Amino acid sequence: MNKKLVFVTNNAHKLEEISQILGDKIDLLSLKDINCQEDIPETADTLEGNAFQKASYIHQKYGYDCFADDTGLEVEALNGEPGVFSARYAGSGHDSEANMQKLLQNLIGKTNRKAQFRTSICLIIDDKVHTFEGICKGIIIEEKRGETGFGYDPIFVPEGYENTFAELGNDIKNQISHRAKAVEALCTYLKNE
Ligand code: IMP
Repeated sequence: MNKKLVFVTNNAHKLEEISQILGDKIDLLSLKDINCQEDIPETADTLEGNAFQKASYIHQKYGYDCFADDTGLEVEALNGEPGVFSARYAGSGHDSEANMQKLLQNLIGKTNRKAQFRTSICLIIDDKVHTFEGICKGIIIEEKRGETGFGYDPIFVPEGYENTFAELGNDIKNQISHRAKAVEALCTYLKNE
């Protein structure tokens, strides 16, 4: 029988993406599949802490092996901000436009535009905790460019490229992104298990 593994997310797109990579050796379950409808706490002050908090909540309450992810944009000249607060940098509403404007405002006059997206994944399997990380380095440009993607994509140009994530499109982004790298590390581990 296949191993069952819950991905602690409500994002159907992320679930589908990882399900395809993992193939048919693992039955990947969503929160809906296990009938979990509550808001899972995400109150830690690090990406690793949030990923662990979400995974351990499901593991303890539902007893499943599972994994959770958390991502942030870390800007060098702002001492790693917005980091774990990326989703609510400009307030609690998950408003990407306001978040980008606040970031651009805070970078006015700064010559160091280096930044990185970082994804942390926490896997709890057979009662053991494993952490995986993916980093995508780049720079923050001064004005938004491009239409695809989400979040800070229109102002982030990954290293080795001229265009923003929002101009490059999802096919290229998904080959080089922080999340792709973290997921790849997770999948390599699971496939070798
Ligand atoms: P999450 O942990 O994947 O929900 O990401 C938290 C926040 O980080 C999002 O709400 C976005 O603001 C930002 N973020 C995460 N991944 C990306 C990305 O790939 N591009 C742009 N912004 C991102």
